[in-house]
Amino acid sequence: MHQVIIELDNVWKIYKIGEQRIEALRGINLKIYQNELVAIMGPSGSGKSTLLYSVGALDIPTKGAIYLKGKNISHMSESTLAQVRGQTIGFVFQSFNLIPSLTALENVMLPMTFQGKNRDERKRRATELLKVVGLSERMYNRPNQLSGGQQQRVAIARALGNDPEVILADEPTGNLDSTTGKAIMEMLENLHKDYGKTLILVTHDPNIAKYAKRKVGILDGKIKHDGSLEKEVLWKK
Ligand SMILES: Nc1ncnc2c1ncn2[C@@H]1O[C@H](COP(=O)(O)OP(=O)(O)OP(=O)(O)O)[C@@H](O)[C@H]1O
Ligand SMILES: [Mg+2]
Repeated sequence: MHQVIIELDNVWKIYKIGEQRIEALRGINLKIYQNELVAIMGPSGSGKSTLLYSVGALDIPTKGAIYLKGKNISHMSESTLAQVRGQTIGFVFQSFNLIPSLTALENVMLPMTFQGKNRDERKRRATELLKVVGLSERMYNRPNQLSGGQQQRVAIARALGNDPEVILADEPTGNLDSTTGKAIMEMLENLHKDYGKTLILVTHDPNIAKYAKRKVGILDGKIKHDGSLEKEVLWKK
């Protein structure tokens, strides 16, 4: 049995800038199952990032509901939401988003601060995670002393800090050359395979999307294609 971990029910996201009204998401229905590896694909401006941030509860929808493990999170207060999000979801961004003044170790330790772990515990875990991503030798370096691929590995270690069930990655290889991108993708795939993480990634690179069994295509804020589990099962019948 595949359990639904995140569900979007008729989610709309409308941005209003003065007179302008931008419908970034237009009635999205999506179920993400535990242990899936999903690629979200679509052209620039189609709503991929907005969708990913909605899935990750970083962004509150204008309309519709988002359920995280069956709980409606659409109307939670920001502080409750931050807590729930921090425990369940880890984010990896295209531009790494590390804090320049902090070392790799401190960057990885940071999100654990908000989940009430003490300093020794945070340091121990961050050291362990940097080892997992192969950066034990570079723990005390700051981001500008690391290559793009190394910075993304720090960001992956940071995303794992609170042992989230779900990892969301927005163009995680977008700023990397193809060889480094492949290494990062393999690292993410291993987290999915070996640690059972649910992995949702946004990409417009078909070479990256091929790691995903399920591909969700989005255009103008609507899902145009979904190679979902249910549909694949129906297809075989
Ligand atoms: N904060 C915002 N305010 C206003 N409009 C926004 C905002 N964020 C996104 N949009 C608009 O919403 C639409 C979807 O944007 P989104 O960033 O989700 O696209 P995307 O598919 O991730 O594109 P890309 O591949 O270029 O990253 C676009 O038209 C964009 O201009
Ligand atoms: Mg985007």
